[in-house]
Amino acid sequence: MDQAEKLRDMMKMQTKEKKLQARIITVTSGKGGVGKSSISVNLALEFKKQGKKVIIFDADFGLANIEVMIGAIPKYNLADLIYKGKELKDIIVNGPMDIGFISGGSGISSLSNMSKDQVLYLVYKLRELENLADIIIIDTGAGISDTVLEFVSKSSEILLVATPEPTSITDSYALLKALNSRKDFDNTDSVIKVVANRVVSRDEGDNLYNKLSVVVNKFLDVNMEYLGMIPVDTNMSMAVMQQKPITLAYPNSQASKSIEQLASKLLDIEISEDEKKNGIAAMFAKMFKGKKGGV
Ligand SMILES: Nc1ncnc2c1ncn2[C@@H]1O[C@H](COP(=O)(O)OP(=O)(O)OP(=O)(O)O)[C@@H](O)[C@H]1O
Ligand SMILES: [Mg+2]
Repeated sequence: MDQAEKLRDMMKMQTKEKKLQARIITVTSGKGGVGKSSISVNLALEFKKQGKKVIIFDADFGLANIEVMIGAIPKYNLADLIYKGKELKDIIVNGPMDIGFISGGSGISSLSNMSKDQVLYLVYKLRELENLADIIIIDTGAGISDTVLEFVSKSSEILLVATPEPTSITDSYALLKALNSRKDFDNTDSVIKVVANRVVSRDEGDNLYNKLSVVVNKFLDVNMEYLGMIPVDTNMSMAVMQQKPITLAYPNSQASKSIEQLASKLLDIEISEDEKKNGIAAMFAKMFKGKKGGV
């Protein structure tokens, strides 16, 4: 029996255990710097406050911004799990309130070069995550790169963060257009939930969503809805300077209250096991289907 066959057998055993799948929420945006990482971290904390086990997966191999935000520097990243024999527990660091954090690091850029055995191994290992988390938040990098689209197109729940600047709206549209044109994106399987960040009023958030939905409904075939807004709040930058997430540093600030509401709204949505697209391992397996290391 070769290595790949052994792994396949082990995976079959895992599947038989019939674990509950974690809910995966992928946070993305057309334009960079609109608040994805801030929202990922603070939503994670709110979910945790509401009794959920949460892991944030940083799929942005560029800047290590979540690490700075939560003040926890991981020793190892996804590449160490794939290539250096590290265990899942070695690459998870605990942030504030014990939310878990995994850095994709250089593992993200090397994903496309993995062999079949490596992909199988990764998928096998990631299944363990289902025991450790009720919700996995994937924070993607900025812009419309292939890596970002890979993650987004395989996610059933997508949070699209936009700000009121005209460029953010056009960039959001460009991201949705790129997503819509991908063969591996199934609009009946995925819901895009828009978060309007850094708005000065509720109306400004509504307007942002309306502007975007007019063009999206006219030209694209995607399933989009409005989740809500987060106001522009100077406490956000003050929290960043203290290297503390705003919901911990300033829980009564307007932005924190809004994030709390968004988290409750997300938790109120019932997600069936079916809608979870079989969890994180299946998501990665799908990413490699038909590719070099495809399984
Ligand atoms: N509601 C808000 N009010 C004020 N400042 C905000 C708000 N949301 C985010 N910011 C600030 O905007 C900056 C960018 O935020 P963040 O790093 O979360 O964005 P990002 O989308 O993850 O960026 P990147 O694309 O570089 O990963 C940070 O300095 C953050 O403090
Ligand atoms: Mg970021």
